[in-house]
Amino acid sequence: MGLLNKNIFLIGMPGSGKSTVGRQLAEKFQMPFVDLDYEIMSNAGMSIKEIFAAYDEDHFRQLEREALRAVIQKSAGAVIATGGGTPCFFDNMELIRKNGISIFIDVPVTELISRINAAERDKRPKFSNNTDLAVTLNQLVRQRVPFYKKAHHRWDGNEQTIDELELIIKQLAT
Ligand code: S3P
Repeated sequence: MGLLNKNIFLIGMPGSGKSTVGRQLAEKFQMPFVDLDYEIMSNAGMSIKEIFAAYDEDHFRQLEREALRAVIQKSAGAVIATGGGTPCFFDNMELIRKNGISIFIDVPVTELISRINAAERDKRPKFSNNTDLAVTLNQLVRQRVPFYKKAHHRWDGNEQTIDELELIIKQLAT
């Protein structure tokens, strides 16, 4: 059992650092780390890119929903990095809010662009076509921020430290 008996969900745009921050928090709180994208891939036996290519985004969102429900079923104290789109489909955001502490990692689009290099882009089907990365990111941010804002806390991933986030989570958990 880790230091907290609540799940911590990290939500935010691709490139915001959900997995990196999640691993660091998991270490600090001695809790298991779960990457929802990885769960989807291991359940399907395919990469996310392959799932989008073999089916379509709707199918991916179904698998994502099932993986989210399964993770919630089996974890009562894990740090969970969701996918960038997870909170924005079905009632996933309500499910997330009800089953732990949710943190929106907020990072400006300019910073996301500098973090999403070619290899990172290739793994993410939403960015792998020839569209302009800045245009796509700005569009997605506009659609998604209303969902992300439902999180229990917004953490500025560019300006605030992990130690500050650790303190906030401890306060939210008590
Ligand atoms: C997606 C983000 C990805 C992954 C899938 C779709 C999105 O996760 O779930 O490629 O719609 O933004 P990351 O946020 O970890 O890149």
